[in-house]
Amino acid sequence: MKILLMGPPGAGKGTQAENLVQTFSIPHISTGDMFRAAVKEGTELGKQAKACMDSGKLVPDEVTIGIVRERLSKDDCKDGFLLDGFPRTVPQAEALDKILADLDTKLDKVLNIEVPNEDLIARAIGRRICKSCGATYNIKFNPTKVENVCDNCGGELYQRNDDNEETMANRLAVYEDQTKPLIDYYKRAGIYVAIDGRRAIDEVTKNLVEILKG
Ligand code: AP5
Ligand code: MG
Ligand code: ZN
Repeated sequence: MKILLMGPPGAGKGTQAENLVQTFSIPHISTGDMFRAAVKEGTELGKQAKACMDSGKLVPDEVTIGIVRERLSKDDCKDGFLLDGFPRTVPQAEALDKILADLDTKLDKVLNIEVPNEDLIARAIGRRICKSCGATYNIKFNPTKVENVCDNCGGELYQRNDDNEETMANRLAVYEDQTKPLIDYYKRAGIYVAIDGRRAIDEVTKNLVEILKG
């Protein structure tokens, strides 16, 4: 199963991806997670990405396309993968088609999680992530049992640098301007399905699994 999970910032792509990759036993490929790992390691890529991410802008296409090409060429992607947060521009989508054609494959489904902007802001502002295992929580919508302590591993939680109102406004504007055109791109390809992302996390998961299995 080769899946692309789309949606505006804070829609629940990462949360749903974690559930889907378990069900389908495929790797989760998130460019945002890859950039955050590079920032943590302090690599050249990390330095370049950090400036873009902190302001809510996109990392340049050529950089992003390069890391995805490398990742998709690995053996564990042969039988399937779930892309989260890539592509986000038309040039990235065209590059992905080319990468997949070179690998003699293509996407099976593009699932777009739709959530209104006011909910997206509340989701992003309330998001907390475990420093140790990366599990995602929300102080309002998906709290940990003990405040600031990960349910999975007991790790401490942190807030992403770009999860503030100002950066979130930029991220939403970038989404409208550069990523939304991909909806038509994938509608034309006949593999696009929109999902109502306003529902509870497990209801959205159930709906996604139904679509993918159906
Ligand atoms: P990235 O990390 O991809 O961020 P994003 O697209 O803004 O999406 P998020 O990760 O913020 O949201 P999500 O949809 O994963 O939501 P989540 O599941 O966590 O990218 C970050 C930056 O990296 C970009 O701004 C850019 O600079 C750079 N970048 C990345 N990819 C790039 C690319 N291809 N090209 C160029 N630059 C790129 O959920 C959010 C919160 O909501 C959580 O707290 C969660 O618990 C909660 N929640 C989830 N589902 C529900 C629900 N159903 N109900 C209530 N709460 C929910
Ligand atoms: Mg995410
Ligand atoms: Zn944890």
